[in-house]
Amino acid sequence: VATTTAAADPSVVVSAAHRGASAYAPENTIAAFKLAAGQGADMFELDVQETRDHELVLMHDTTVSRTTDAETVFPGQSPWKVGDLTFSQIRRLDAGSWFGSDFRNEPVPTLGETLSAMQASGLGLLLEIKAPHLYPGIEARVADELRRNPLWLSGNRVVVQSFDWDSMRVFHEELPQVPIGLLGTPRIEELDDLATFADEINPPYADVTPSYVRSIHDEGMQIFTWTLDDPDDMRRMISYGVDGVITNKPDVLSDLDATP
Ligand code: G3P
Ligand code: CA
Repeated sequence: VATTTAAADPSVVVSAAHRGASAYAPENTIAAFKLAAGQGADMFELDVQETRDHELVLMHDTTVSRTTDAETVFPGQSPWKVGDLTFSQIRRLDAGSWFGSDFRNEPVPTLGETLSAMQASGLGLLLEIKAPHLYPGIEARVADELRRNPLWLSGNRVVVQSFDWDSMRVFHEELPQVPIGLLGTPRIEELDDLATFADEINPPYADVTPSYVRSIHDEGMQIFTWTLDDPDDMRRMISYGVDGVITNKPDVLSDLDATP
């Protein structure tokens, strides 16, 4: 992972591939994560949810409708919520064909499979726990999975984030050594309290101003902003001093290094 020091230089801002290189490969699949590595990303982002039988799987939406062929595999059972399906049912789904025929039969990966598959890449992981209120106890199960993968922990390669800040307080108690990111845009007055357990504030880029970046840095935290695919937006956010850029197009961010 590149240095996390704030800088106005594209070569030192951390590049995090949003759901993998998801502009070019199906989101939240190993194919998208491997492509991100090939496009010069420093980290890859993913969304973790849980099946009915408590397997940790990668999926952004709380249903599998948009990014799998569930309609064909389980006709008439709409809306196919992640938490209503067993792992063996999820495993029957094709999470690649909706994106393109090159990705046919790409499976919905588990978190454990992803950690194994991406271990050798050297990339960092920005792990979002998605909709934790739907999966009571998911924080402990994610922490257990990370403990089963000590190379990721000892290498300081994982940041855990969520829109649910209470869930992140719980996760911090579970595994204090893992940095925490808070998705959203807290008010300046909230930052001091949030800094007691969080390491990153991760807002949408429309909310980011130079003074907001300074306020976060003043509290000793970093700021990763999302989701930027346009080079001019990337340059502007980098000039504001953000520490990380979350993008569907890591190649565009990599190419900024080469262009003034
Ligand atoms: O990492 C930022 C981003 O993933 C948050 O939004 O909806 O894509 O999970 P979303
Ligand atoms: Ca996400």
